[in-house]
Amino acid sequence: MFAAIGSAVGLGNIWRFPYVAYKNGGGAFILPYLVALLTAGIPLLFLDYAVGHRYRGSPPLAFRRLNRKFETIGWWNVLVNVLIGLYYAVILGWAASYTYYSLNAAWGADPSAFFFKDYLQMAPDVSAQMQFVAQVALPLVLVWLATLLILAFGVQKGVARASAFFMPLLVVMFVLLVGIALSLPGAAKGLDVLFTPDWSKLASSEVWIAAYGQIFFSLSVCFGIMITYSSYMKRSSDLTGTGMVVAFANSSFELLAGIGVFAALGFIATASGQQVGDVAAGGIGLAFIAFPTIINQAPFGAVIGVLFFGSLVFAGLTSLISVLEVVIAAVQDKLKIGRVAATLAVGVPMMTASVLLFGTTTGLPVLDVLDKFVNTYGIVAAGFLYVLCVVLGRNLGVLSRHLNKTSSLKVGKTWLLFVGAVTPLVLGTMLFTDTRSLLT
Ligand code: PHE
Repeated sequence: MFAAIGSAVGLGNIWRFPYVAYKNGGGAFILPYLVALLTAGIPLLFLDYAVGHRYRGSPPLAFRRLNRKFETIGWWNVLVNVLIGLYYAVILGWAASYTYYSLNAAWGADPSAFFFKDYLQMAPDVSAQMQFVAQVALPLVLVWLATLLILAFGVQKGVARASAFFMPLLVVMFVLLVGIALSLPGAAKGLDVLFTPDWSKLASSEVWIAAYGQIFFSLSVCFGIMITYSSYMKRSSDLTGTGMVVAFANSSFELLAGIGVFAALGFIATASGQQVGDVAAGGIGLAFIAFPTIINQAPFGAVIGVLFFGSLVFAGLTSLISVLEVVIAAVQDKLKIGRVAATLAVGVPMMTASVLLFGTTTGLPVLDVLDKFVNTYGIVAAGFLYVLCVVLGRNLGVLSRHLNKTSSLKVGKTWLLFVGAVTPLVLGTMLFTDTRSLLT
């Protein structure tokens, strides 16, 4: 359970949710968000749990046991996880550097120039190259080594134990961070902006698609991750109960992140005389530019910095572990090799590729392309195909009986309706709009 929470709680909670919520109706976004969670997120999480737990394998093996023809979907999941792993690690490397830089606000007065020019700059000469290696490549390698070490210890001793350690630590750090952010002058203004509902947005289909997209990404469903993790659960595990705890923990953390991030944005907007909307940003801009600016001006800036970037590292590390677990488990299942051998066989090439791609040049354009590809074809297309196969292959009955055998919360017609009709419909629509926007 801790490992699943660790996978779900990641960069998506801290830097994606606050921004997506703000852009899509603020307080009003809560409604589509909850609808997406209840009609697709939790039902799909249960589905992943049922598939993994019943067929006991990584996605390729579990899907093959479900139906011989489905193995390819599993390998598609594996490929997507390989791609995510390559760049998720990079962001953690940056966050690790920035945890350290927070101590003395090393980014100076202009965090944006520092990030793009000084930190990520493609190195023009040898001494600058050495500096680049020290500040970007080295932390990246360290992130990889830590991740692979934890994975090499196996699921119980490595993944589960690390998650049970990092998750509570993350919560403590993040609660502290939110507490400090709320005490900053202007915090209330930020919260006003985040939570003021714009009900008119609910009429737009984009807002609903954004809500479903956020839920899929945030809960790590349709990636093969939860299938893999549930394959390790005891036969008698309460699957739906665990799923509910994971979903609840993830959404609570997401809400907390929204409050913390917008309180901090309210502070910086007030301090610089801008509108909160003008300083609100998501993703890389929020973490590596907006937050350094806040840290520069806030009381206890260094503490805020270490807590914020440290949280990114811990939240991201357990997500990265889950991504690699899928790949390692798939290799183990296929080649029947031991844990350490599989970790090395997967980890060394991936670490090398990741460092070569992103630790030698800024790699930002590559990251952008990978991210778009993963979001559209990784999640949406794979999820669509997955649900479609399960539905058309008439596997839902068996899977719902499997869930009900050991679970406290029973699934029934509603679950069948959500998985069988709502999710294929939503995923199909998303696939259609995403592809259309890519083509135009
Ligand atoms: N759920 C993670 C988050 O919220 C993102 C993630 C998705 C991580 C898929 C790994 C795989 O950040």
